[in-house]
Amino acid sequence: MFTTNCSFLENELLDVVRLFKRRPQVLEHSFRFEEGVFYNAFCVDGQAFSFEDREQVCSELQFKRLERRFAKLRLYEILSNLYGETMPWGALTGIRPTKLAYMEKENGRDFTKLFNRMQVREDNIKLVADILKTQEGIYEKKDGNTDLFVSIPFCPTKCAYCSFITAPIDKTRHFLPAYLDALDKELASAKESVGNLRSIYIGGGTPFALDASDLERVLKGLDGIFKTCNPNAEYTVEAGRPDVFSDEKLALLKEYGVTRICINPQSFSDQTLQKIGRKHTEADIYRAFDMAEKYDFDINVDLIAGLTDETPEVFTQSVEKAVATGAENITVHCLSLKSGAKLKEENDYLENDFISAMVASSRDILSKNGYAPYYMYRQKYQVGNNENVGWTKAGKACVYNIDIMEETADNLALGANAVSKRVFTEKGLITRFASQKDLKTYIENVDTLIEKRREFFK
Ligand SMILES: C[S@@+](CC[C@H](N)C(=O)[O-])C[C@H]1O[C@@H](n2cnc3c(N)ncnc32)[C@H](O)[C@@H]1O
Ligand code: SF4
Repeated sequence: MFTTNCSFLENELLDVVRLFKRRPQVLEHSFRFEEGVFYNAFCVDGQAFSFEDREQVCSELQFKRLERRFAKLRLYEILSNLYGETMPWGALTGIRPTKLAYMEKENGRDFTKLFNRMQVREDNIKLVADILKTQEGIYEKKDGNTDLFVSIPFCPTKCAYCSFITAPIDKTRHFLPAYLDALDKELASAKESVGNLRSIYIGGGTPFALDASDLERVLKGLDGIFKTCNPNAEYTVEAGRPDVFSDEKLALLKEYGVTRICINPQSFSDQTLQKIGRKHTEADIYRAFDMAEKYDFDINVDLIAGLTDETPEVFTQSVEKAVATGAENITVHCLSLKSGAKLKEENDYLENDFISAMVASSRDILSKNGYAPYYMYRQKYQVGNNENVGWTKAGKACVYNIDIMEETADNLALGANAVSKRVFTEKGLITRFASQKDLKTYIENVDTLIEKRREFFK
């Protein structure tokens, strides 16, 4: 049972509780502010704790921030002491660490002080500092900057861990012609909403689940925007699973100016791949690389730490094998199980004794092999409360990933289950506009959707 006299802190405090494997049965919280002092009192299973934090307040916004910060930190400290557990990101929840670091920097403060205060682990503070460094020259906060996303929510089959809204194409193929028609309409009207185009990303799902002629329709639809708005924009296709690669599809990407693709193993272990329902083998991964070689794309490789039964040794081998492919980008995800994933367990706390070792070894191997971290994000229900980190060779950082994660540019997102975003830098405001998640509803409502989004981008 949980009670607080401060309803806006309810979810924030529950997020802190969820970090821990052990949880209090009864948690009471009360907050008051008097003469510059933030008073937080907690009662955890009958034990009382009270704290006073003094800080100068200059605005309502800052007051709310501090109210949240002190309450979360104090609860974290209590639970961490009671249960003898510390977390890699300390009491930080609900905000991207790099975003918070930028906010501190913009206010002329050294972000490491706040991170230390929030009990973020030393190596994670360094990770954030390294990411900010890699982003230098790419990170750009300017109204009107736009990234364009096209959603292809079709997959060859559904992987057991995946909670993305996407379905096996065999079950949804009958929607495909109407889906592509709807996308064509969206693309035809999208140009007027594009500001300064920085990147294009065709993602999924698995864009290569489409056959070559359908894929070409999407590329053709995008071609006008790409060529007129910025023919030098970074252009990614999350081609995806190695089992659906073909030379014909790769040649099409080259023809339409795509610069970056994803070949995603998740793991190089055939045993694991079978357990997670990936329907491809290690050999298929190399086959996809061989096919792509002559086209000279920048290549991203996705890996997941914490997959079913994997030991640190097996995961480490995957990281080493990913490095050996020579990929320009390697993204290390930590397993997160949300509803929608077949692997989702009853228990919403994900434990993995090995995950910290896996994360540490990936950081070690990647940095020794010339990769630098360039973006990161955390998700709820992530094994061991860790994070996803994108690593890059020098000069190859993906603009799209940076813009999305740092929320520095508008995102014009087309297709089902796509969320467009407007970023008003000067006002410090971000607004969102979501299209329908379900294929049928999206197709049926595309005309209204186009009108509403046009308004949204005005
Ligand atoms: C939108 S998915 C598309 C990737 C593409 N369809 C493929 O599977 O190759 C992007 C990435 O999210 C990651 N991902 C998906 N489900 C995840 C989960 N439950 N936990 C952590 N990462 C996950 C995977 O690494 C995946 O490659
Ligand atoms: S991981 Fe990729 S291929 Fe697998 S279900 Fe999710 S989006 Fe589809």
